[in-house]
Amino acid sequence: MNSEDKNNSARKVAEAMVDNMQANQQNPNFDDEKERSFQEARDKVFANRKIINIGIIGCGGIAKNHAFSISLLENNARKIWKWKESKQKIKPVLYALADIEGSKAEEFAQHFPAKKIYKGANAGNELIDDPDVDAVFILVPTVDHLGYVLRAAEKGKHIMLEKPAAFSPDDIRKMIEARDKHKVVLQVGLVMRSSSPIYYLKKLLSDNKEKWGSLTNIVYSDSQQKPYTNDPTHPSTWRRDKNKAHAGVLFEHDIHDLDGMISILGKVDEVYAKIKYFAGYAGIEDSVAALVTFKNGVTFSMNCMWNDLNYDCRKYEIFFEKAKIRIIADGRDEKLAEVFVQYLDEPEYEIEMKTMDDYFFKQIGMPHVKAEIPGPYYAEDLRFIMAIVENNIESEIKAEYGKYVQEVIEAIYHSNEIGNVVKIREKLL
Ligand SMILES: NC(=O)c1ccc[n+]([C@@H]2O[C@H](COP(=O)([O-])OP(=O)(O)OC[C@H]3O[C@@H](n4cnc5c(N)ncnc54)[C@H](O)[C@@H]3O)[C@@H](O)[C@H]2O)c1
Repeated sequence: MNSEDKNNSARKVAEAMVDNMQANQQNPNFDDEKERSFQEARDKVFANRKIINIGIIGCGGIAKNHAFSISLLENNARKIWKWKESKQKIKPVLYALADIEGSKAEEFAQHFPAKKIYKGANAGNELIDDPDVDAVFILVPTVDHLGYVLRAAEKGKHIMLEKPAAFSPDDIRKMIEARDKHKVVLQVGLVMRSSSPIYYLKKLLSDNKEKWGSLTNIVYSDSQQKPYTNDPTHPSTWRRDKNKAHAGVLFEHDIHDLDGMISILGKVDEVYAKIKYFAGYAGIEDSVAALVTFKNGVTFSMNCMWNDLNYDCRKYEIFFEKAKIRIIADGRDEKLAEVFVQYLDEPEYEIEMKTMDDYFFKQIGMPHVKAEIPGPYYAEDLRFIMAIVENNIESEIKAEYGKYVQEVIEAIYHSNEIGNVVKIREKLL
C-alpha cells in the first residue's frame, strides 16, 4: 500500500468512528447498553474464577507459617490452574482473622492484612458464621478444636485443622462424621506427610531393598526447648495446662514423627513405653521412651524430651544390615533436614534438599511452585487448596490418619500406666 492509499484508509476509519460516535450520542440507551456489554464481558472472564476466602482462627505461632503459605498460593494461583487444567480458576485469599486476644489479631494483620478482623471471646464463631468465608484454618490450642470443627462443618466451611486433631480419637471420629455429613474438606496438619525428606525415605527404602538388606532398627531422638515457658520465644503457656493441651511432648510434638514413620512403614503392631513428668505439670509428660513395633517387623525406638537448653533437634538413625541413613533436623537451622547415607565401607554422602523436593512434588503430582521457603507447610496448604479445587471431601492428609496416630499414642500412654506391652487393635487404619 502506497502512502496515498494509507491516508485514504486512515481517513475512512476516522470517518466511521465519528459516524459511530454521533449515532451513539443520538441513542438514548447508549450508556445502559455500554454498561451491559461491559458487564457481559466481565462475567465471561470471571465465570470460571472463584476466590476462596480463607479465615484464620488463632493468630499465634503456627498461623504465621500458614499465612505465609496462603500468600504464596495466592500469588501462584495461575500456575496451579495450569497444572490441573481445572475448569474452576480458584484463587485462595487470606480474608479474615480471628483471635480471642484482639491485640494478637491486630498485630498479625500488620504482617498479613485481611479484610475482616474478629476479636474477643466469640471471634472464632463469628468468623465461621461469616457467609463470605469459604475455608477456615483452625490454629488454636487443642481444647477448642472440636467445637470449631463441628461448627465449621455444619456451616459448610472447608477445614484445615492443626494437630493434634482433638483430645481423643473418639472426638476425631465425630469430626469425620461431620465432614462426611456436610461434604467439606477436612485436613489435619500432620506436616511430616508433606515433608520431602520423610517422603524421600520411602524411595530410598524401596530402591535399595535388595542392596541394603533388611531394615533392622530405627533409632529416633528429639529434644525440644520447653515450648511453654512464657519467654518471648515460647509464649504459649497453654502447652503446660492439661485442660488445654491434654498431654505433653509426645502428643503435642512427636506426634509428627510417629505419624511420619506410620506413613512409611504402615500399621503398628504393639508398643511399650516409659513416661516421665520432670517439670511437674500434671498430665504434661516431658520424657518419653517408647518402643513401637510395626507389623512389617521394624522396631522404632523413640526418645522424646523437652529441655531447658537453647536446643531443638530431631535425629533419626535408620539401620539396615548393610547400610545406614542419618537424618538431622535442627530446628534452629535454615535447612529443613540433612540426610546422609552410607553403604558398607563406602564414604557417607548427603542427599541434596533439591533432589528430595523435586522428587516429592513430582510424586504428589503438584507444581513445584517457586517459593522463598519451599517448606512443608506450603506443600500441606497446597494440598488442602487442591482438595477444595478438586471438590474432594477427603483430603490426601486424611483426618483418619490423625485418628490413627492418636490411637497409637493412647496405647503408648496406656502401656506406661499398666507397665506392659500394648497390642494395637486390628480394626484400626
Ligand atoms: N504443625 C506444626 O508444626 C505445629 C507447630 C506448632 C503448633 N501447632 C498446633 O497449632 C495449634 C496452635 O498452636 P500455636 O503454637 O500457634 O499456639 P499459640 O499459642 O502460638 O497461638 C494460639 C493463638 O490462638 C489464640 N486463641 C486461643 N484460644 C482461642 C480460641 N478459642 N479462639 C480464637 N483464638 C484463640 C491465642 O490467643 C493465640 O493467639 C495447636 O493445635 C498446636 O498443636 C502445630
